[in-house]
Amino acid sequence: MSNVTVCVRFRPLSAKEKRDIGDNICIQSIDSENFIIKDEKEEGFTFSFDKIFYEESKQADVYEFLVLPIVRDAVNSINGTIIAYGQTGAGKTYSMEGSNILESDEKKKGILPRVVDGLFTCIKTSADSTKYTIKLSMVEIYMEKVRDLFDLSKDNIQIKESKIQGILLSGATEISLSNPAKALQSLSSGIANRAIGETQMNMASSRSHCVYMFTIDQQSLSEKRVKSGKLVLVDLAGSEKVEKTGAEGRLLEEAKTINKSLSALGNVINALTCGTPAKASHIPYRDSKLTRLLQDALGGNSRSALLCCCSPSPSNASESLSTLRFGARARHIKTSPLVKVNEDKGSDKKNGALSGTRDETFEKILEKMSERLNAEDVKLLEELFIQAGLFVDLDSTDDLESNFQDVVEQTISSLMKAVEELRSAVQMLQRENMTLKERLGAAERLDALPGGTADFLQKISGLLSYFIPGMQR
Ligand SMILES: Nc1ncnc2c1ncn2[C@@H]1O[C@H](COP(=O)(O)OP(=O)(O)OP(=O)(O)O)[C@@H](O)[C@H]1O
Ligand SMILES: [Mg+2]
Repeated sequence: MSNVTVCVRFRPLSAKEKRDIGDNICIQSIDSENFIIKDEKEEGFTFSFDKIFYEESKQADVYEFLVLPIVRDAVNSINGTIIAYGQTGAGKTYSMEGSNILESDEKKKGILPRVVDGLFTCIKTSADSTKYTIKLSMVEIYMEKVRDLFDLSKDNIQIKESKIQGILLSGATEISLSNPAKALQSLSSGIANRAIGETQMNMASSRSHCVYMFTIDQQSLSEKRVKSGKLVLVDLAGSEKVEKTGAEGRLLEEAKTINKSLSALGNVINALTCGTPAKASHIPYRDSKLTRLLQDALGGNSRSALLCCCSPSPSNASESLSTLRFGARARHIKTSPLVKVNEDKGSDKKNGALSGTRDETFEKILEKMSERLNAEDVKLLEELFIQAGLFVDLDSTDDLESNFQDVVEQTISSLMKAVEELRSAVQMLQRENMTLKERLGAAERLDALPGGTADFLQKISGLLSYFIPGMQR
């Protein structure tokens, strides 16, 4: 088991923050892992993380500490995820992309171009007997829909779970990256399609969660085995206090959806770290597209890291505190990174079959079929694959799960009803039992009376029964 690595990055004060309240900052450094932050009431809170990147930190520092170990693991087929989290305008996109994805200034390059360089360097230095292929998919979650940033016509990508590959984006475009220049060009074209808007905090605010998915296939030529590593980078849309920023219209709707999915992410993290095994089985991954997509990263076999981006300005202290509390909680998540080896594909190739993992093969069959069949037939074929257990459709898993929950709830409520009925039956029997006991006692007392008295009382009782309705003779 390994913990999620959590780092904090404070960006420099923005021009607006300086204009509004001068050069004051609300953080006080203790060392590279600890600091104190003061809230609006000047109350200090101490936080500890794996590393704190203060305002003067370099892009290269963040990459080397937080990202490089995960890149190396991904080349060795251990899945990895890096998530940038924080308030709008806190520096997530700057950390991920740099000031521009095609930035040539070495110092300003963000995580993504460094990941590209890192992947190709790792591959270059690996053994000749291994053949690598790197592929890239880019999607954004905008207003709870997953859009393919390489093909805008695919605006409702389904998230599926394959037994072999884990969470995957069904039908999302995958671009083969043959060299770093091609990779940067592809990233740049995808980024250009991302939803951007202007908020009070950020002139170019990301209005969607952006997911960069690198797949690194490693084929050992001697053993004919394929190992696959997935490296997922997530540049989240920023949380926003709408009452503070005064967002209206479309911006307000976007902000509400963003805040909702971020709170779903918070709920998943709370559930994962709440500690009781009973609760741990109810992780609400299906409450949002974002949490579904991050299911492997948070609760699965992925090595994960979180970069909490914050403003150092006292005017944003409460937002920074909430980001830091989120990060502190996420530090307790444990994941179990492991290497996944795919089936031997050598024999398939000899038979002229389609290359790729088993799920990829079925995806390709579906793709080929869609050229000949109409959409409904292809959908039917896909459903048959899912029914045969070749794919797992998360939506249908959800249906099954909720049906199962319904049945459990119904069973519990009918059992409770039956217990209630049994309880009242027992009470009734107890009352009858009491009456019978009383009658028996009375009969015994009557029998014990001297002979003449008993006959006399019997006659009186017979007489009274004529006058008192319901009385037994
Ligand atoms: N470490 C930094 N050094 C210099 N400038 C930075 C740094 N971090 C952020 N900035 C600048 O701050 C502004 C906002 O940053 P950025 O766009 O990365 O925010 P964000 O967290 O992605 O916000 P949103 O959630 O709205 O997308 C940008 O102009 C960016 O260049
Ligand atoms: Mg952004």
